[in-house]
Amino acid sequence: MVRTAVVPVAGLGTRFLPATKVVPKEMLPIVDRPAIQYIVEEAVHNGIGDVLLITASGKSAIEDHFDRRVDLEVALADKGRDADLAEVRRLSELATIHSVRQPEPLGLGHAVRMAAGHVAEDEGFAVLLGDDLLEPGSTFLSRMVAAHERTGAAVVALMRVDDPERLAQYGVVDAVPGEREGEVLVRDLVEKPAPGTAPSDLAVIGRYVLPGRILGVLRDTLPGRGGEIQLTDALRTLAAERPIVGLVLDEPRHDAGDRLGFLTATLAFAAQRPDLGPDLIAWLREHLDELAQRADSTGRTA
Ligand code: G1P
Repeated sequence: MVRTAVVPVAGLGTRFLPATKVVPKEMLPIVDRPAIQYIVEEAVHNGIGDVLLITASGKSAIEDHFDRRVDLEVALADKGRDADLAEVRRLSELATIHSVRQPEPLGLGHAVRMAAGHVAEDEGFAVLLGDDLLEPGSTFLSRMVAAHERTGAAVVALMRVDDPERLAQYGVVDAVPGEREGEVLVRDLVEKPAPGTAPSDLAVIGRYVLPGRILGVLRDTLPGRGGEIQLTDALRTLAAERPIVGLVLDEPRHDAGDRLGFLTATLAFAAQRPDLGPDLIAWLREHLDELAQRADSTGRTA
């Protein structure tokens, strides 16, 4: 059984400065929810209600977001704002949130290793990276958990990336077709291969279901690319023993760590909201040509 979702949130968010100078990047709102809320809701929606945040100093707003806020609840109750009150309460009951601090930014593998006090070595657990957003209601993580329970192997989410420059931003797998549709068997991985050297076009995206044993492997994993302890290197050790299962994503994914991905997530999530979608789509239809014209003329005068 997979009980815990480990969610690393210790990063400085330098790709989003100046917005992230004071506000953690995970707290930047997509429509009216901080990005981290979509991640926790995804874990809960897929049956994982125990969430371990791997956090750092300056990030306590994330924990506060999932905690009670009694003065706000009282104020909303006094004003008869029942729907807002219900939403604020729901949030504090959504998941069981734990946190542990990563004392130094020593890499994603090091962050995941911080889960050792919370997850047993004979227990599988999920890892969700906040930069990768799937659409609300996605059950892809449940498919990953099922594959882990069926095989006992580590399971990684994969995405095809055609552009070699973009592929170089990810962990990339060397894989052979698996027995099931959309499934591959990963024999090896490379962290951020230089353009032209990647073993395939299948990039690892931020969803993993891992056997607890990887925590011991991570303890022995030396710093790798960029001088950081890489999760990819611990996965290589596991893959050398038996193939890792890769599940190829067949649904939309947004890179919320990137300005454009953040915008597409905002539009896509808002478009699906019954309270906003129809008006947003109408506005876009009406203004798209004008926006394009203005962008063209700004481009010309820039
Ligand atoms: C991390 C992993 C990388 C993976 C990526 C997915 O990289 O190291 O293997 O492909 O997440 O988003 P990061 O984005 O932290 O540099």
